[in-house]
Amino acid sequence: MASRTEPGARTHSHPPAKGLSPGPKQGLLAWINKRLPVEEFIDSQLKGYYAPKNFNIWYFFGSLALLVLVMQLLTGIFLTMFYKPGELTAFDSVEFIMREVDWGWLIRYLHSTGASAFFIVVYLHMFRALLYGSYKAPRELLWLFGMLVYLALMAEAFMGYVLPWGNMSFWGAQVIVNLFGTIPGIGPGLVEWIRGDYGIADATLNRFFALHVAFLPLALLLLVLLHLVALRTTGSNNPDGIEIKERVGADGKPLDGIPFHPYYTVKDVAGIGVFLVVFAIIVFFVPTLGGLFLEAPNFEPANPMSTPEHIAPVWYFTPYYAILRAVPDQRIGALLMLLAVTSFLFLPWLDRSPVKSMRYRGWISRTALALFTVSFVVLGYLGLQPAEGVYVVLARIFAAVYFLFFLLMPFYTLIDPVKPVPDRVVYHAH
Ligand code: HEM
Repeated sequence: MASRTEPGARTHSHPPAKGLSPGPKQGLLAWINKRLPVEEFIDSQLKGYYAPKNFNIWYFFGSLALLVLVMQLLTGIFLTMFYKPGELTAFDSVEFIMREVDWGWLIRYLHSTGASAFFIVVYLHMFRALLYGSYKAPRELLWLFGMLVYLALMAEAFMGYVLPWGNMSFWGAQVIVNLFGTIPGIGPGLVEWIRGDYGIADATLNRFFALHVAFLPLALLLLVLLHLVALRTTGSNNPDGIEIKERVGADGKPLDGIPFHPYYTVKDVAGIGVFLVVFAIIVFFVPTLGGLFLEAPNFEPANPMSTPEHIAPVWYFTPYYAILRAVPDQRIGALLMLLAVTSFLFLPWLDRSPVKSMRYRGWISRTALALFTVSFVVLGYLGLQPAEGVYVVLARIFAAVYFLFFLLMPFYTLIDPVKPVPDRVVYHAH
């Protein structure tokens, strides 16, 4: 006789519906998880990672920097398939990529625009740290790894710029490599060692190629990894500069934190969407951006017999270039330029303010940061102009403002009238 099942009674003759099974998971993911802890990693690093709930627009630029890094690596690999390093082949191979290789123009413009995008994103990312005191304890190492990333990025961009072997590549390399000659004693020998020849030549181009496509990308990846591990160790700072780990609920989770996934992953994806729209407009409609992203003299082959009218680096180096040329003595100029770049390294120890975020700092720190930002932008403009007349005078004034920001920091951050910092983060839902 066939048995009848009462409504609501559980039958054990059929397995539970797929997906609802409480038992051990099966299938490919389970197979992988047994051998590589993918899910465990996602759970602990994304879902289980609590980030402050008050992140604002300034917190988009870290993930955007990651996106641009990946984009540069991918487009770079494709460019390397067609690019031919060498005095006699480099320029023509880039022209070949632009005119003959299928979609070569797109790959090249993605890569050249990506270089500028990288610096825009990284400068905004660094500015956020200045705004909210993210470099202060306990995040000093996170900041230092960030600075090493920045230095490696500068080397990567400089060497990449030499590769097309255009006339600005050649003369830019000439100017920058010669700066090493200002080091007392070892300078001239060092310059020859870097170039591998008596002038910027085939040997220089080949070693820059090796460093640009192999050593520096690896170094960048490693440094970014260390940057992120340091970030996970301390946790993110936030616009209030409050340590959310200090206020935890009964479940041990920060009261002012929300799981990184899905709350910030979805937010980052929205940021990436906006970024890609702006990026695509530049790539497709104004890839040279009027000579700012790709300079006109670089569409002419390198010519040791003809100096471009004004030798200027790409915009992201021009604040430092303006400082280099602000003093008549090249040796002092080179030293000042080095100091201008490396001053950021000392910020965690120069800043003695009891609070992190500008939200709770007084007018002195705010004015100092505003003046510094203006000086950085104006110096960037001056670096694109010829080093003469009023441009040099302005470069001196703004270089002084630039350095005073760092030099006076230990003093003005102590006397700055700060406001009381609240216990919990301030968050207004939109
Ligand atoms: C390839 C370049 C870089 C990548 C991929 C990168 C990635 C990231 C990511 C994903 C975050 C977390 C999200 C965010 O806070 O925006 C972060 C945080 C941070 N980064 Fe970077 N970064 C880069 C360069 C730099 C540089 C050059 C500096 C400074 C010199 C820096 C300093 C910081 C600081 C201080 C934080 C913590 C900020 C806070 O919690 O308020 N980073 N970075």
